[in-house]
Amino acid sequence: MNKNIKPVRKAVFPVAGLGTRFLPATKEMPKEMLPINDRPLIQHVVEEARAAGIEEFIFVTGRHKNMLEEHFDFQPELESTLISRNKDAMLKKVRDSEMPAGKLFTTRQPKPLGLGHAVWCAHKLVGNEPFAIILPDDLVDYKEGCLAQMINTYNEYGGNVVAVKDVPRAETSKYGILDIESDNGTEVSIRGLVEKPDPADAPSTLSIIGRYILQPEVFEHLSAFETGAGDEIQLTDAMAKLLGRQAFHGLRFKGNHFDCGSRLGFIAANIAYSLKDPEIGDGVGKILKDYS
Ligand code: G1P
Repeated sequence: MNKNIKPVRKAVFPVAGLGTRFLPATKEMPKEMLPINDRPLIQHVVEEARAAGIEEFIFVTGRHKNMLEEHFDFQPELESTLISRNKDAMLKKVRDSEMPAGKLFTTRQPKPLGLGHAVWCAHKLVGNEPFAIILPDDLVDYKEGCLAQMINTYNEYGGNVVAVKDVPRAETSKYGILDIESDNGTEVSIRGLVEKPDPADAPSTLSIIGRYILQPEVFEHLSAFETGAGDEIQLTDAMAKLLGRQAFHGLRFKGNHFDCGSRLGFIAANIAYSLKDPEIGDGVGKILKDYS
């Protein structure tokens, strides 16, 4: 690693969203607590960050989201019950979900003003160093986690890195879209970024999925609180202002991507993760056959 490149030690998880696409399930329960196989979405992405070497985890939360912090707490009654019943495997799963002291930080986003605003709410906790952002809706299934893959790219080029994938042109209005300067098939050098363009106006069909490594200068642009697409403060617009001043790359990551913010993506992720679960995978395969 180039010694001028500062390591990425902190990750921001914007988790203040309302989860309206999952109502009524999310009336009281945060959507990030919905399970994919045996653990909630938020735990999947925290584990991905941990495997990538992240040391500090910053949740941008909102009202009715306390359960997310509680999930990573030490649970003494639960642990002593599992110990007394010799449930070792279960005990290990519970302990693996605990966050060591001094690693989890929270800040609040009081109003839903957009992803850019949510990230800005973490600026004091991030400080003046590069950081990752992980949107828990996006799950990537691969032996090397998506963020770890991105950190490899970051260690090579420095600057900013986003995870990207090709989408059908009809869907560009759902994503941040890249204007490509050069492309080696895996890594893309970016010259422009547009949030949710109409298909006819999209500069490419390469879209950002919810993983970012950014330099702290992005906060200077976010703090202008300018609104963009959908009248929200957009992260993409603030990132676009870094272009030309800092390196900016997209990584076509390896692995299957699931948009767990949609019901279909959520169900697909549950099928994929449970099929490879050694305890229930065969049973799930049989159920799928019976129903097809
Ligand atoms: C956000 C970003 C968008 C990105 C997407 C990935 O949009 O604004 O640029 O492509 O996440 O999931 P949202 O899904 O919050 O509308």
